[in-house]
Amino acid sequence: MKWNSVKNYRQMSRYGAERLFSVIADRLSAGKTANIGLATGNTMIKLYAILAGMLNHAGIDLTGLSTFNLDEYVDDNGNNLDYRHPLSYRQYMTENFFDLIDPATGFRQENMVFPDAENPSAFDALITRRGGLDIQLLGIGFNGHIGFNEPISAEEITAEDFARLPSRIVELDALTLKTNARLTAGDQIDTVPRRAVTMGMDSILKAKEVILLACFTEQAEPLRRIRSGQTTPELPASFLLKHQTTEIVYTEDKIKL
Ligand code: F6R
Repeated sequence: MKWNSVKNYRQMSRYGAERLFSVIADRLSAGKTANIGLATGNTMIKLYAILAGMLNHAGIDLTGLSTFNLDEYVDDNGNNLDYRHPLSYRQYMTENFFDLIDPATGFRQENMVFPDAENPSAFDALITRRGGLDIQLLGIGFNGHIGFNEPISAEEITAEDFARLPSRIVELDALTLKTNARLTAGDQIDTVPRRAVTMGMDSILKAKEVILLACFTEQAEPLRRIRSGQTTPELPASFLLKHQTTEIVYTEDKIKL
């Protein structure tokens, strides 16, 4: 695992966009496909604006690009949250990234993939069929979650079983509901769906490369716990310690380790 500190949000966003761009450009210009795992959240907003600009200027044909989003909320009927719901992650991605990409690049709507609450295992199968993720972009929850793989007591699950968790529907942790209500729903906790469909630990840990970005003071604590070196289901991001090509990038202005 590689640790990398940058000055601030702007530098983190540029660094992350450049990493993703270089994986996409290297693979597509070599005549291969590019499979990129993406995250939503406040951490990523500027990164997507920069990345879209880079892709538009590069003049690369993006028909071979597929994106696989980590997660989506699930509504009371057990379906992916409607696109028009203000908290929909598909809506977030459309507004912050997909709509910013010039249609002339050839990036295809059917290659913008999300896990499907009706059939979560199909998501893992599709990632495998397409050859696996070339890079996975991650944020980190204040409780150490990655995607919506929430902490589980080490008494309830072994590390081996946790690392193999497939894509699935999960109940969101109380801290996640509270944080997401505060940061994305004007503190209205009832607006935040209680469940989500998430990419599992297995698909995340199989990505060829992982880049995790952190830029909020509350993320210092889970990062310090990763640094302590112990892998535990109580801190899902600690499983990245076992992933050889993970880079953690954090901003020095907000995070002191
Ligand atoms: C989002 C996701 C989450 C977030 C994490 C940090 O798709 O999977 O794990 O990356 O909750 O969110 P922000 O960036 O809003 O602090």
